[in-house]
Amino acid sequence: MLSAALVARALGECPDLIIHVVAVECDTTILPHLKATLDACLAAGQGRVTFDLIEADFISASTGITRDDRLSNFDLVIQNPPYAKLGKFSAPRIAVREVGADAPNVYAAFLALATAALKPHGQLVAITPRSFCNGPYFGAFRSYLLDQIALDRIHIFESRSIVFADTGVLQENVVFSGTKGGSRDQVLLSTSNGHEDKESRRNVAYTDVVHPGDPHQFVRITANDEDIEIAERMLSLPATLESLGIKVSTGRVVDFRSRECLLNAAEDDAVPLIYPGNLRDGVVVWPRDIRKPQWFRPLTQKDANMLFPEGWYCIVKRFSSKEERRRIVAAVWSPERICSPVAFENHVNVFHLDGAGLDRNIAFGLSMWLNSSLVDRFFRTFSGHTQVNATDLRSMRFPGREMLRHLGELAPETMPAQSEIDSLVDKAAGMVDTLV
Ligand SMILES: C[S@@+](CC[C@H](N)C(=O)[O-])C[C@H]1O[C@@H](n2cnc3c(N)ncnc32)[C@H](O)[C@@H]1O
Repeated sequence: MLSAALVARALGECPDLIIHVVAVECDTTILPHLKATLDACLAAGQGRVTFDLIEADFISASTGITRDDRLSNFDLVIQNPPYAKLGKFSAPRIAVREVGADAPNVYAAFLALATAALKPHGQLVAITPRSFCNGPYFGAFRSYLLDQIALDRIHIFESRSIVFADTGVLQENVVFSGTKGGSRDQVLLSTSNGHEDKESRRNVAYTDVVHPGDPHQFVRITANDEDIEIAERMLSLPATLESLGIKVSTGRVVDFRSRECLLNAAEDDAVPLIYPGNLRDGVVVWPRDIRKPQWFRPLTQKDANMLFPEGWYCIVKRFSSKEERRRIVAAVWSPERICSPVAFENHVNVFHLDGAGLDRNIAFGLSMWLNSSLVDRFFRTFSGHTQVNATDLRSMRFPGREMLRHLGELAPETMPAQSEIDSLVDKAAGMVDTLV
């Protein structure tokens, strides 16, 4: 379909162009259909279209595994690559490294190899999940891709359920184009709900999409002016977690690795074990009816090292459920409710001070801040999935210490309604300049 669409457009728009299509397919059931499509292109081209149909695995044929020399020097690559994880030591993942990229997923491998196969100023067009745009998992891949190509245009489908409804892919998807060695002035961003809905478009500065100096090189896709304003507001905040001296880590207890320490009821030396299901209306409620072993009894020194000492902690779910309106769901663990060391399970992120608790008001202030619609909107400008990584949280800017304390003082013991959180955060955010 992509070849046919491209050939049809090129024939119509560029009457003098001679087109040679190189199509790669590994599925023998698809090959006859692809051949029929290419034959139709050839017929439509009346002498201007030729093609090579390569029956091969694209990764093998583009690398030293079984290199096919026809897969190089392209003016244009268009692709809708398959998705599947690539193990760290799998042959394709190792093979892709020869172009200088690390690709944790087949689609990233296709993008990297296609980029490598372009001529200077050649163009890459692809439809892929949005997942490569942020997060540590695709960090090395992103730095390769964004180093090689300049993004020209990104279209985002906001609905996660429409575009690939038939394949069970529940991810936001993007279609993007980039030019190898192109100029980094502007990017055309467009959004639509599904592929049949009207799109809205805007040109934004390249630096709004990939912030200069961002060590993680997130690709930020802001849907409208309000998003840009939110991003600017967030970026002008005075603090980072580092400047606040606050650390964020994923919970240290991986339950299946610590099975012998997990208990279903209180016993001597057992401490609370906190799961995402314990987060409720801005506080950590423990124990709770969540069908998990909620006590952790350390047996060895290694187990004991997984505990946090008694104190105030701000906790954020790593995966929000689909029903949750916000992507970031934060809550406070209070030593006033349960005074004991505490263990956090691996599906939550924990804000702490070098392994110890936070100031009470900072814990509440952080939690309120993270639960605000402002932060949610900002998070959505760089994350297309429901996962909240510690790296994502570390990459964000925060209000200064005094403002967080001030917010924490205002916070009641249970999180107020969203509208109240937002008005408190808005009021406090308005004071950013004076309270740093
Ligand atoms: C999502 S489909 C896109 C098809 C085509 N681009 C189109 O738009 O009609 C992905 C295609 O890649 C093929 N494919 C999957 N893995 C491949 C590989 N390693 N090498 C070559 N082709 C592959 C699949 O058989 C499938 O036809």
